[in-house]
Amino acid sequence: MAISEDFKQELKRRTNIADIIGNYVKLKKSGRNLMGKCPFHGDDTPSFSVSPEMGLYHCFGCNESGDVIQFVRKIEHLDYMEAVRWLAQKAGLTVPETNNDNKMHHLRQRIFEANREAARFYVRQLYTPEGKEALAYLTKRQLLPKTITHFGLGYSPKSRFELVNYLRSKGFSGTELIQANLANQSQNGNPYDRFSDRIMFPIIDLQRRVLGFGGRIMSNNKPKYLNTSETPVFNKGENLYALQFAKNKANGQLILVEGYMDVIALHQAGFENAVATLGTALTQEQALIIKRYCEEVVICYDADEAGQRATARAIGILRPLGINIKILTVPNGKDPDEFMKSHGEQGPARFRMLLNNSGNDIDYRLTKLRSGYHLDITQQRVEFLTKACELLSQLDNSIERDIYISKLAEELGVEKAAIKEQTQQSIRTRQRRTEKDRQRSMQRSLTVSPEGFSGTEPFNLRVASAEDALISLLMAHPDVAVSVFPTLSPTLFPTAFHRMVYELLRDRAAQGYNFTFTDISDKLSADERNRLGKLLMSHSYEENPTAAAKDYIDILQEESEKLSPQQIAEADDNTLLEEMRKLRSKKQ
Ligand code: GTP
Ligand code: MN
Repeated sequence: MAISEDFKQELKRRTNIADIIGNYVKLKKSGRNLMGKCPFHGDDTPSFSVSPEMGLYHCFGCNESGDVIQFVRKIEHLDYMEAVRWLAQKAGLTVPETNNDNKMHHLRQRIFEANREAARFYVRQLYTPEGKEALAYLTKRQLLPKTITHFGLGYSPKSRFELVNYLRSKGFSGTELIQANLANQSQNGNPYDRFSDRIMFPIIDLQRRVLGFGGRIMSNNKPKYLNTSETPVFNKGENLYALQFAKNKANGQLILVEGYMDVIALHQAGFENAVATLGTALTQEQALIIKRYCEEVVICYDADEAGQRATARAIGILRPLGINIKILTVPNGKDPDEFMKSHGEQGPARFRMLLNNSGNDIDYRLTKLRSGYHLDITQQRVEFLTKACELLSQLDNSIERDIYISKLAEELGVEKAAIKEQTQQSIRTRQRRTEKDRQRSMQRSLTVSPEGFSGTEPFNLRVASAEDALISLLMAHPDVAVSVFPTLSPTLFPTAFHRMVYELLRDRAAQGYNFTFTDISDKLSADERNRLGKLLMSHSYEENPTAAAKDYIDILQEESEKLSPQQIAEADDNTLLEEMRKLRSKKQ
């Protein structure tokens, strides 16, 4: 355990979960809780609730729960100790240092430091005689000196030992350099520079830390780019190139391009809201980051086959998050950087025109869809129209929908009213389907499985709700809980999950610690945490907790005396007769 329980309690006491979350999510009071839109999934209706009293957040959309530390970890991409330090700093506390723990935190810090030193080293190399060719390359690619400095571009020298030697002289160990992926390990175990004779692009996060590098070769050799692979501080799918600049210039819109050079060329031309993925397809994580900083994304990928596939994929990830999407196609198969270069001084103005004229993704999808049909054949025209209406039915905005309907009607020489009717029908089908899905998932959550008392799910709804209610009550009313603990046996909870939670609460109380959600959430797995969070958020406070606790315990007691379906199936005749007699006597 990295930090003492006492410090954690102190930290949580001094931290208001609603204040912290309020910095990222607009929260509105709703009874004892606060509600807002979930920052972790594309949330259209507020399904994210925060309970300051329990130190808990839960999203009913993505079903995630956690306490303030888990929230900070997730939203700031920190590890546990980093989140604790982050919160401690805000609360004006100093984390007591213990020396035997937290190797990971230490390693990450070392890697950040090594990366920073390496970035500085690469920059210096660019201006040495050895870096002359690299500097000339960047100049040839029309980058201005101030752009080169702004992005911290550098050069990794040919010799495979210069960086390693330099960083060793600065006190970094070979192991640290290998773990930072700044060095590779030779067969005899010695580290040597990973990057050699490449233009270096440092990848920097929002806290201005150097996470890793992209390195471009200057010849036509392969691989064209060599990137830092996964390290304890770098995950390609969780970061976007140049977001540290773009987020301040976004103004509601980000331009998503494919390459580092595209980003740099666009920023130089005044489009400082451009970002790129780090050599991979757009991930869900990146899309959520994007959503935090803008409402609209202009996808500006290469016009080639691969670029088009990547565009379709990105749309599929961004649209469900409710992000407005536009597609910018650079003419003549050029990428944004080449486009800018080929137009010289006029480049920025021309790109601005492309940007203003870029259609939204419905345009793009209609054009794509259309290319698959021969519209002069009636049958195919009908098929195309049906598919097109289905597409339009996905638009929430009726004005936008109407514009496309008019356009289609005109282009295909079909009555507008007919297309409108067909689209309405698609909308109705969609709504029916959503309603069915909802009902089905409701039914699923009500279905109880006959696993019996040893299972993880109760076989009886009455027991299930009594268990849930009792756990929630005990956590909300510690005074009632401590009076119940001495006599209530964990075995009375038929579900393993509830039994585990109950034992945890009781143990904490016995050790003299608090047992609200935030006090025990570290001890739970993510699944358990989500389940408990949901349970707690789904129960209201009891008016008369003592009486209610007694009722729930009575129900559990009563039910525990009954046989499970499994036991009934396996019971002998005498047991069954005895059981029936019991039941009859209860009913009278
Ligand atoms: P230039 O050719 O210098 O203009 O680079 P670019 O930024 O236009 O790159 P390109 O469009 O060729 O590729 C887009 C992105 O894919 C790059 O920025 C890299 O992140 C990634 N990429 C390209 N080539 C490679 C490669 O060989 N290996 C890896 N790992 N990534 C690559
Ligand atoms: Mn390029």
